[in-house]
Amino acid sequence: MIKKEGAYYPANEFRKAAQFNDESVYNTAQKDPVKFWEKLARQLFWRKTWTKAFVHRPPYFQWFVGGKLNITENCLERNLPRNKDKVALIWEPELLDEKPRHLTYGELFWEVGRCANALKSLGVKKGDRVGIYLPMIPEVMISMLACARIGAIHSVVFSAFSPQALKVRLQDTRAKVLITADGYYRRGQVISLKAAADEALADTQIKKVVVVKRVGQEVAWRKGRDFWWPDLLAKAKAQCSPVAMDSEDPLFILYTSGSTGKPKGCVHTNGGYAVQSLWTGKWIFDFGDKDVFWCTADVGWVTGHTYGIYSPLLNGATSLMFEGAPDFPEPDRWCQIIEKHRVTIFYTAPTAIRMFARYEHFVKKHDLTSLRLLGSVGEPIDEAAWYWYFKNVGHEKCPIVDTWWQTETGGILITSLPGLGPFKPGFTGRPFPGVKTDILDDQGKPCPIDKKGNLVIRSPFSPGLLRNIYKNPKKYLETYWTRYGQKIYFTSDGALRDKHGLIRIIGRVDDVIKVAGHRISTGELENAVNKHPLVSECAVVGIPDKIKGEVPVIFAVSAEAPAKADLPALKQTIIDQIKKEIGPIALPKELYLVEDLPKTRSGKIMRRILKRLFTDEDLGDLSTLSNPEIVEKIKKIIVR
Ligand code: WT7
Repeated sequence: MIKKEGAYYPANEFRKAAQFNDESVYNTAQKDPVKFWEKLARQLFWRKTWTKAFVHRPPYFQWFVGGKLNITENCLERNLPRNKDKVALIWEPELLDEKPRHLTYGELFWEVGRCANALKSLGVKKGDRVGIYLPMIPEVMISMLACARIGAIHSVVFSAFSPQALKVRLQDTRAKVLITADGYYRRGQVISLKAAADEALADTQIKKVVVVKRVGQEVAWRKGRDFWWPDLLAKAKAQCSPVAMDSEDPLFILYTSGSTGKPKGCVHTNGGYAVQSLWTGKWIFDFGDKDVFWCTADVGWVTGHTYGIYSPLLNGATSLMFEGAPDFPEPDRWCQIIEKHRVTIFYTAPTAIRMFARYEHFVKKHDLTSLRLLGSVGEPIDEAAWYWYFKNVGHEKCPIVDTWWQTETGGILITSLPGLGPFKPGFTGRPFPGVKTDILDDQGKPCPIDKKGNLVIRSPFSPGLLRNIYKNPKKYLETYWTRYGQKIYFTSDGALRDKHGLIRIIGRVDDVIKVAGHRISTGELENAVNKHPLVSECAVVGIPDKIKGEVPVIFAVSAEAPAKADLPALKQTIIDQIKKEIGPIALPKELYLVEDLPKTRSGKIMRRILKRLFTDEDLGDLSTLSNPEIVEKIKKIIVR
């Protein structure tokens, strides 16, 4: 690596060999982004070419209008002539004594065909929604592709989400079929997934459930509704011709947290998403013939969708999927996996990096020399974590791509490209070629250099940006296309730009907090807590955390003042309520039972003041509160 003015640039050999190393592309793309994306789109296999590349009717827009393709034909058939025997998926189970599975492109093609026919036999048709509640096992990749093959819209729900969270999503999509598993392994435990799914199904439209056999445990069974995956697939033919999808037909719905209590179903389409997945992967992760790419994100999140599944497959690359937790049974499990499978490109989150850094001695035991490129995603990566990653994992030889994007954007939109750089700690980089970003002040004027403002994306946005919130166009308009009008996409992130045009992401400007890179809305958490019969009101705020970046803390007011001795029990039932509504990822760092919350005279809860109790920041003017005395009382509870 070459060092210059506090930033790093790729070594000459790296640059020369990279998939992307032509600075001039940025300029050409900027001049005519639509033409640029069109040129990239031609690399895919289209059943029918589009008639118009970009159509904008604010707040809606479309890409490759009139074009027809099937994304799985691009992931599978397009790769078969050259890569039939190349490994598409390496699967590493959690159990150390279990063997990894390798699926070649040829085998994957066969499995996807069988699964697609099996879904057809259950009555799934183009446009139907299929729920997928699966852990990190090969069947999740097969299921997603099988849906896409026949034009069904997959909606993957993170396997650690609670039955209630699954139910809400299934109700929203009105899926008729759910694919799940009997269970899976996590930190040495068997997690009973089928039981959780069963609990979710009442009051949904689910008519058929397909169950993968992962752990071989006894499960409750409803005849006529439940089908074992192996039985169903054994009866299915492998030959399944791909349905030609309209470029703008939905490919998947993925739920994410917004400012309010209800999760939003982001709708992603076939054509634009495929184009963006293919090219962001090729240029940002520099996929070459011999690479083994490991994206550690769970497939329940968008990172798992795009960079665990679609992007590597569209590029004919080898993707590694790991069932378990990166630090189980020992904190060096992730190093073992890199060493064992000779991983060359490693993509993870700052939270994980900060956790790995705690166990530096473990890292030193392993041979990580197969690595040639590193990536980070999900939250800002602080300089300390950046340098640790750079030195101890990349041995100062691997570029680090800090990639900014969102569930909504479908693929990476801001990063440095590995063949060009610069890689500068604290900065994610430049907008991807063909993407026009801006940083605006409150009035909508572009911010000068180094000044914080709101990050926005200008037309023509990007082919992979969401097209709607499922069945909620009002929310779509309000969330993304109101802050700066219907022609500018509002990201809800604060950012600034340095004199070289590199972007630093400050963090969310809405009520979303990033806990270990996961997106949790304080509103959603508050809703869950408020459902507890003994809670009259509550406030959730995010506070800084050394490992997770941010963590939620809850202030709850109980309807009846409970006796001191009953407090621990009450707290526990509130925690259980959160587990039930959302799942273990949303658990707070602390839960404080307080007698009141700081409020303005009009009754608005002042979360800002609660948040400041945990930082060095001045509390500000308390005289506008109707109950300023409560702040002192809460302070005492926190200190205790
Ligand atoms: C939010 C989106 C996109 C994949 C995973 C997260 C934050 C994302 C970065 C980064 C600083 C980042 C933003 C964004 N974020 N990447 N490289 N640097 N912040 O997807 O759950 O939809 O969250 O994550 O705040 O808005 P998501």
